Amino acid sequence: MNPTLTTPWQNLSSLATETGNTHMRQLFEVDAQRAERYRTKACGILLDYSKNRINDKVLEQLLALADACQLGAQRDAMFNGESFNNTENRAVLHTALRYQGSQPVRVGGQDVMPDVREVRERCYAFARRVRSGEWKGFDGQSMTDVVNIGIGGSDLGPLMVCEALAPQASGPRVHFVSNVDSAHIVATLKELNPATTLFVIASKTFTTIETLTNARSARQWLLDAVGGDETAVAKHFVAVSTNREKVTAFGIDANNMFGFWDWVGGRYSLWSAIGLPIMLAIGPENFDQLLVGAYEMDEHFRSAPLGENLPVLLAVLGIWYVNFLGARSQVIAPYNQTLHRLPAFLQQLDMESNGKGVRRDGGRIAYATGPVIWGEPGINGQHAYFQLLHQGTSLIPVDFILALKQEGTLPNHQRTLIASCLAQSAALMRGKDADEVRAELTARGMDANEIPAAIPHRVFSGNRPSNTMLLDDLSPRSLGSLIALYEHKVFVQGVIWGVNSFDQWGVELGKQLATGIEKVLAGEASAETYDASTQGLIALAGLQR
Ligand code: F6P
Repeated sequence: MNPTLTTPWQNLSSLATETGNTHMRQLFEVDAQRAERYRTKACGILLDYSKNRINDKVLEQLLALADACQLGAQRDAMFNGESFNNTENRAVLHTALRYQGSQPVRVGGQDVMPDVREVRERCYAFARRVRSGEWKGFDGQSMTDVVNIGIGGSDLGPLMVCEALAPQASGPRVHFVSNVDSAHIVATLKELNPATTLFVIASKTFTTIETLTNARSARQWLLDAVGGDETAVAKHFVAVSTNREKVTAFGIDANNMFGFWDWVGGRYSLWSAIGLPIMLAIGPENFDQLLVGAYEMDEHFRSAPLGENLPVLLAVLGIWYVNFLGARSQVIAPYNQTLHRLPAFLQQLDMESNGKGVRRDGGRIAYATGPVIWGEPGINGQHAYFQLLHQGTSLIPVDFILALKQEGTLPNHQRTLIASCLAQSAALMRGKDADEVRAELTARGMDANEIPAAIPHRVFSGNRPSNTMLLDDLSPRSLGSLIALYEHKVFVQGVIWGVNSFDQWGVELGKQLATGIEKVLAGEASAETYDASTQGLIALAGLQR
């Protein structure tokens, strides 16, 4: 389905011309109820979306667009285990991993829940043994450190969650190695003792060159410490993968492998055994709460009316800016420091899912799809990139995310944090006009002759949109809900754009070429097939070795 051919799309195009530039200050002035009307709460997350360039008509048409694109039917198809990932002929069922009910969840007629529960229980039992000190290394010591070796979805989710929930951590220290640049693994291992270090090799395919290279170096580091005694490997290496054959070929015992399934996309996999580092860090009970939070958001997404549905609202607001008001990027600004890897996680989730230029049926797309996702913790961003958000020439919507409570926060710090977050969305919305600037400069005693030249630099146009999400707290449960909220937002946008959000063919060409170039660098192949620029770079890089 081409969304541009629907009536709501055409209506939204007209509305964008008619009302898209109306200043939000004005919208607040004429509607005393606006803040209350454009606010909704579910799963411990309050979404204030009143600081968006919308009115009731726009919102109605945006929701009608979701409806016209058969959101309800597509959502059900995903939850029901149909082959929603049509280019790989796979179901998309990360929701089964956190399902808390007792109904079967079927893929091709087979209930997947017994396997899901069985693997989870194995992971939990393993995590308990490591956390309690019962799991011993080659010389009988317990594990003090865990190193997760993985990349992309086998790194970012667990890393982001372990950071976010660091105050709840009660197990071994968890480290993450992803970059094939040896600086990463060398710096990580420098501080560690092989006798007390456990490696989790995480790779859905177990073919990812970065992960396998790091895993081999880790293995060698261990073997060097034990004089080459291979029996140590089983005590210090476990794998998380869907590929049993490759795991055993690598030399990791199948008993030390925790599996998952092809219907779990890499960027949606933190709920599976890929979450093992999280279980090790915060314990199975807290991991359960993460799942509960995500499940609650799943249920909200399935049952709440579109106008109160958090993922749907976030998604259609994004569509409004990308497709009707010309925005090409979206900022994620979490204010809690421990959420500092959330923007990176959401970059993969969103851009690998919706960075597509063809529809599900292979037809080329002539409208904008996934925007550039970027950001950093908001308070640091204020002292760096926010200048551009306030006075730059691009329209860049912002998601402000703020958890009001977190274990161990100091009240006076928290006040400043909250004030800063709330001030930014207010400033982006209201701006500051020339009269206000003039009055301010006059009050400050600036020479009246200097004021006209000073004004343009100090004027803020305002009318810059944002959502504010207030979380009651930053607990495993609310974090689970927050992540699932964004997963479903991405899903809804993918449905409206008509793309398959669950493949990632766009990363393959670079991988293929890298394999070839590595052979050239090793002197095993000729550089002839590459363009002149790449040949030149290969020659230069080769000389550096
Ligand atoms: O190259 C992209 C990608 O395939 C991601 O989708 C995935 O999360 C990552 O690589 C890692 O893949 P794997 O878990 O198979 O090592």
